[in-house]
Formats: sequence, structure tokens, C-alpha cells
Amino acid sequence: MKTRITELLGIEHPIIQGGMHYVGYAKLAAAVSNAGGLGIITALTLGTPELLAKEISLCREMTSKPFGVNLTFLPAFSEPPYPEYIRAIIEGGVKVVETAGRNPQAYMPYLKQAGIKVIHKCTSVRHSLKAQAIGCDAVSVDGFECGGHPGEDDVTNFILLPRAADELKIPFVASGGMADGRSLVAALALGAEGINMGTRFIATKEAPVHDNVKNAIVAASELDTRLVMRKLHNTERVMMNSGVERLLEIEKQKGDALTIADVYEQVAGVYPKIMRDGEMEAGAWSCGMVAGLIHDIPSVRELIDRIMSQADALINQRLAGLSRP
Ligand SMILES: Cc1cc2nc3c(=O)[nH]c(=O)nc-3n(C[C@H](O)[C@H](O)[C@H](O)COP(=O)(O)O)c2cc1C
Repeated sequence: MKTRITELLGIEHPIIQGGMHYVGYAKLAAAVSNAGGLGIITALTLGTPELLAKEISLCREMTSKPFGVNLTFLPAFSEPPYPEYIRAIIEGGVKVVETAGRNPQAYMPYLKQAGIKVIHKCTSVRHSLKAQAIGCDAVSVDGFECGGHPGEDDVTNFILLPRAADELKIPFVASGGMADGRSLVAALALGAEGINMGTRFIATKEAPVHDNVKNAIVAASELDTRLVMRKLHNTERVMMNSGVERLLEIEKQKGDALTIADVYEQVAGVYPKIMRDGEMEAGAWSCGMVAGLIHDIPSVRELIDRIMSQADALINQRLAGLSRP
């Protein structure tokens, strides 16, 4: 399939694996890129720019196809050394960066000078327009159903994607709730040039996480995620568990007086416990409503091939059939 995104990124299929904390290592990124999509390494998960440089080298040993790096600009108590991370990305010869969180404007000159394509992840049309204005090459439009940080506007993709299509000149991919060929075809119909998936890629053979995480996603339905940290304007969609139940209780008790310190135990340092150790009740970890559409743990190649053949059948059989006289 050829779209503005496959052309921009030099990939075979319009499918991107979004950055994911403690999931987006070289192993998963290389598997996605080898299967014809765009795999993405998550910079901050590596912990230091030096370790990111090593992960980039490792990924390059595992694939000759393009892959990207995610740089997440989130509110942090101590600012990570972003310039050094960017240096590692440039010196590693990476040609695609997915930015997320705060506006990446300050770093755009360095990325653009190095010939890097920048995809900014946005949860609103106004942020997407801002990304376009500061020179981003594409946008990943993340609807309210997404795993991770859906922003504070609560607009789902059935509205957000056509709104983005009406306003944007740069290409965008649909992110949040994407799982299969139906998602891809719907996203294309709504004006996107491809899809970005998070949660679906965790339930794959190559995802370097504990089996408990993959099994929890398969077992979950679309009703099993919760929104946390709303009062802190740092909303995150997470998988329900007893740690999250406790977090929600604290949020209820504290009301408007809630501070990050009140929920620190349920949100800080949780990712390694979940992803590496499989302690599924440890606290808040991002997961999308799309869990309700995930029923198996295929290899990345099986997943991507299945999405593409299902999309092909939908377009050329079901939809083509509908338009016949
Ligand atoms: C476990 C997990 C961790 C994530 N970590 C990050 C992250 O560190 N940076 C980021 O930009 N997005 C992160 N995301 C968001 C994904 O890149 C993607 O935008 C989102 O998962 C799309 O929604 P979906 O899960 O419905 O596919 C994360 C998502 C999940 C599920």
C-alpha cells in the first residue's frame, strides 16, 4: 500500500509502532521494521544517551530497514538531557523521530539540519496545527481511546481524525484504538495516511515484556482501562488493577487538593515491575481500550501481514462490492 506516510518514511506498509516506555526496545522496533512497518525505540526507557546510542546500534544490526526513535517531553522533576539524546539519534544515523508531550520547537533546528523526519504525537487539532507550523513532517493524531496520555479534550477518533483531515496539510496517521485491517481502512477513510499502534504491539511474540503483560491484554475487555491523574492535568489511560484501584481511591479522597506526591507510589517506578517482572497489580501502566479487540499473541510479521490482507479484502471485496450497481 502506498500512502503519503509510506512515501515520507520509506516503508512498505503504513503502520507505525508508537514509542512505549519499557516496551520500545530494539528487539520490537527491528521486528516491526523488518515486517515492513516503522519500529520505534523509546529513548527515555534506555535511561542515558549512551545506552540509547547502544540500542540504536543494536537495532541497526537487527534490521536494514528504516526505524525511528521516540523522544517524550513530559513534565519531569529533573529534565532529561534532551540535547545529548538528540546527539545520539543524529550520530546513530536515525532518520525518523517521534516526538510527544511538550512542543518540540526548541529542538526542531537540530533535527531538521540532520535531515530527520519529525512526527509529533498530538491529541488535538490545535496542537496538530502547531506541529505543522513549527515544521513537523507529519502528525500522529492520538484519540481519547488511546493507551497512554490522551490529553484533556476527550475527543474520540471518529471526530478527531476527520477534523484533522479538514485542517492539516501535512500527512497524519491515526493513533489510539487501532488493532486490525478494519482500523486501517477506517483510518484511511477518515483521512489518515496510516495507523500508529501501541497496545496491539505489546501482545506480540517479539515484545520484550513479561508474558503476564501480554496475557493481561488478551484477557482484558474494552471496559478494563481507567483514566488516572485527571486532576493533575496529566491524564493517563491505564489498565485496571489493585494499584490503580488504590490510586483512584486516593484521587477521590483528595479531590481538588490532589498533588503528584499523593499518588507517587502508584505511578513512579511501576513500569519495570510490570513490564520486566510481570507484577500485574503494581500500579498504573498505559493500556488502550483497544485491549477489547486483542485476542491473541502473534509474531509481529503475522500481525502486520494479517492487517494488510484484511485491509486489502475490505477495500477490494466488501467496500468495492457495495459500490457496484
Ligand atoms: C505501555 C505503553 C507505554 C507508552 N509509553 C509511551 C511513551 O513513553 N511515549 C509516548 O510518546 N507514547 C507512549 N505510549 C503511547 C503509544 O505510543 C501510542 O500513542 C498509544 O499506545 C496508541 O494507542 P493504542 O494503545 O490504543 O494503540 C505508550 C503506550 C503504552 C500502551
